[in-house]
Amino acid sequence: MLINTIKELREQVKNWKKQGLTIGLVPTMGALHQGHLSLIKKCVEKCDKTIVSVFVNPIQFCPGEDLEKYPRTLDEDKKLCEDAGVNIVFAPSPKEMYGEGHILSNDFLTYVIPPFFYVDKLCGKSRVGHFDGVCTVVNKLFNIVQPDFAFFGEKDRQQLIILKKMVKDLNIPVEIVPCPIIRETSGLALSSRNKYLTDKGKLDALALSKILFNIKICYNKGIKDVKALKETAYAFLNNSHALEYLEFRDKDTLEEKFSADNNTIVFIAAKVENVRLIDNIAL
Ligand code: PAJ
Repeated sequence: MLINTIKELREQVKNWKKQGLTIGLVPTMGALHQGHLSLIKKCVEKCDKTIVSVFVNPIQFCPGEDLEKYPRTLDEDKKLCEDAGVNIVFAPSPKEMYGEGHILSNDFLTYVIPPFFYVDKLCGKSRVGHFDGVCTVVNKLFNIVQPDFAFFGEKDRQQLIILKKMVKDLNIPVEIVPCPIIRETSGLALSSRNKYLTDKGKLDALALSKILFNIKICYNKGIKDVKALKETAYAFLNNSHALEYLEFRDKDTLEEKFSADNNTIVFIAAKVENVRLIDNIAL
């Protein structure tokens, strides 16, 4: 069932809660692929009722990013959700979420701001304000749906870590369920933004996962020194890649690691054909 208004969604949720049913939420920006569907499948298995939100959240896009051209495929998304056993697809308009005139500056909207230590690095460094937009919209969705469980992919690992921190710091009564990264057989992590790549771009994009897999092999062979592990990446890069970062950080606190261990995540971001791609791997 497709619902566009907060009021209607709340009524449906209220009915389910009265019956003591557990509710799971899968927040998305649509253009659903197998990565999203893996979260949806897990939610359908775990919860009595599954709500998938499809909302291209304007306040998490920075100036000059792809807000206008971000793929919007609601009819296909709806069909995929129906086939997967989803109970409600919640697809509000920006006006429904942010009000008349949808004034999006923080002069006029209450924001949820994650701690600086979590956003001054990795994606937060180049996407200033991005995680403020993510936390604000996810907090709104949590307030609207009041789910028992919410599902997020490890693909966006910094986002997942920041949202866990938000839930803890703000005592939000929801359990965050992390879900593993879904990849093509080539290794490429699925992403809605892969649609922007040509066939050649998709081949070039494989460097990201290759670098991560190779680092994991080297780590398993006993190399722990981060500087040495980083150096193994250069063999996979050429002038079709603009590397933004390759960093080793703690899986919960995002503190930098100089010697890798089993709590280390390796994060990578690079532009291929001017498309910004991210990936990560747990050691
Ligand atoms: P979106 O990019 O649509 O992703 C929705 C969810 O799907 C996120 O939790 C993301 O980590 C997960 N996901 C995407 N690709 C995946 C893959 N290959 N494997 C596993 N999970 C994957 O992330 C967002 O939307 C937004 O920031 C949102 C949280 C909805 C807030 O607007």
